Amino acid sequence: MSRLFKITTVLAVVTLVFTSCDKSRRQLQFMPDMYQSVSGEPYEESTVFENGLEAQQPVSGSISRGHIPYEYPDTNEGYEDAKKKLKSPLTAEDLDSEQAKNLYTIYCSVCHGKKGDGQGDLVKREKFLGIPNYKDRDVTEGSIYHVIMHGKNMMGSHASQLNEKERWLIVKHVQELRNNLLK
Ligand code: HEC
Repeated sequence: MSRLFKITTVLAVVTLVFTSCDKSRRQLQFMPDMYQSVSGEPYEESTVFENGLEAQQPVSGSISRGHIPYEYPDTNEGYEDAKKKLKSPLTAEDLDSEQAKNLYTIYCSVCHGKKGDGQGDLVKREKFLGIPNYKDRDVTEGSIYHVIMHGKNMMGSHASQLNEKERWLIVKHVQELRNNLLK
């Protein structure tokens, strides 16, 4: 029995070695999925497009899924435009003031302070200066959103950390803080 086992093993090994090392014949593929991708090959040559490649740039004006374009540029004119025209799309049901406050605390209060008076921890520790009190700035919902998107001078953009709804929630919270400071 053990002899038969040995012979079979040797034969199996010899067959494996021969089938996989002979480059002149089509090889035996034990797991074809690992050699041949099931998906399309975007970088294969193609006669369909002029540049001869299957992979093409997206058509100009394409928007990736989930991305909402922001049309106001990072310029003074863009700021003024947003200040006048840009309005919050949030409805009364969307307004979750608890979430708005939490987001503000996470992203803004280190500099602007919990009350928006410009007395955040970084200011108190003299790590960051020149943070305004919201009541001293003539801002609108559009301009606050614009500043979250593009930043302003020493304040960086927060666009990548927040989605559209979160930004508008923060805008609402900033307006509330400002109204309280103006009282
Ligand atoms: C690293 C510190 C820092 C953080 C964090 C920060 N800001 Fe600012 N912010 C500033 C500074 C500095 C200015 C003053 C910019 C200027 O006018 O030169 C400013 C200005 C502003 C203004 C007034 C802009 C105007 O039009 O005059 C608003 C509104 C504002 N920030 C909102 C926010 C919001 C909302 C967040 C959180 C998403 C935030 N900031 C996070 C530093 C910060």
